[in-house]
Amino acid sequence: MSILEIRKLSVNYAGSNGRNTLALSNVDLTMQPGDFVVALGASGCGKTTLLSCIAGFMQPSEGTITLDGKLVQGPGAERGVVFQKHALMPWLSVVENVEFSLKMRGVGKDERRAAAMDKLKRVQLEKYADSPIYQISGGMQQRAGVARALASNPAVMLMDEPLGALDALTRAHIQDLIVELWWQTKKMFFFITHSVEEALFLATDLIVMTPSPGRIAHRFKLDFSRQFIECKDSRAVKSSAAFIEMREKVLSLIHDAPEATRG
Ligand SMILES: Nc1ncnc2c1ncn2[C@@H]1O[C@H](COP(=O)(O)OP(=O)(O)O)[C@@H](O)[C@H]1O
Ligand SMILES: [Mg+2]
Repeated sequence: MSILEIRKLSVNYAGSNGRNTLALSNVDLTMQPGDFVVALGASGCGKTTLLSCIAGFMQPSEGTITLDGKLVQGPGAERGVVFQKHALMPWLSVVENVEFSLKMRGVGKDERRAAAMDKLKRVQLEKYADSPIYQISGGMQQRAGVARALASNPAVMLMDEPLGALDALTRAHIQDLIVELWWQTKKMFFFITHSVEEALFLATDLIVMTPSPGRIAHRFKLDFSRQFIECKDSRAVKSSAAFIEMREKVLSLIHDAPEATRG
């Protein structure tokens, strides 16, 4: 079974004026299949820095990240990334974008097309497989980004505010879809958001981060996503007494924090 272990992770950015920013300090986190970790926190608390380290886009100043005991030292196919702004290639169709990484790895045409179509079905986009990227909506582009990240069947999905730019209805719909994906695939998810409601709905493990230095200030185990899997009614889950109570608790944690930690 896969396991992702983050131990005593610190990242120090050297500023041009000689002032350093301790973007992350002493972060410990363990993830296993089926864990949906959501990092919630104001701008500047180190969420993207943490994701970039897990993705292998950058190396920490101190500490280690291992996946199945192997040190993360660069990007890899076992970690799929979805960005806030889609990073799709506009000159390729939807399905060509999804199969691109498989093509680069030498997977044959029929096999990679079948894999890409399967991922597109999972995000309800199979009808748009041949559409150019610029002809589909923002919500569809983000779903295509999710399908692309799934294409190489990664153990870990890394998502940096993927729904942040979408309207509320589209956002809620894709949240439901992501919970279904998590449930079907039992992958590890590391998901960043500013939205308390989104965090509570998606997370099995919520980490609330605070800045200066960036660190994990609070952790919660949640099961609202499992409730959604049972009842398929996200509005019922989000309006339940338990959800509202938790939302107020997390909001007060964020609001009671010192001024500098708020967004
Ligand atoms: N490349 C960089 N060089 C210097 N400082 C950076 C760089 N990237 C991020 N920072 C700083 O590190 C802190 C954490 O940033 P970031 O990880 O982007 O936070 P978040 O994603 O939570 O908004 C912030 O103070 C930010 O200004
Ligand atoms: Mg960020």
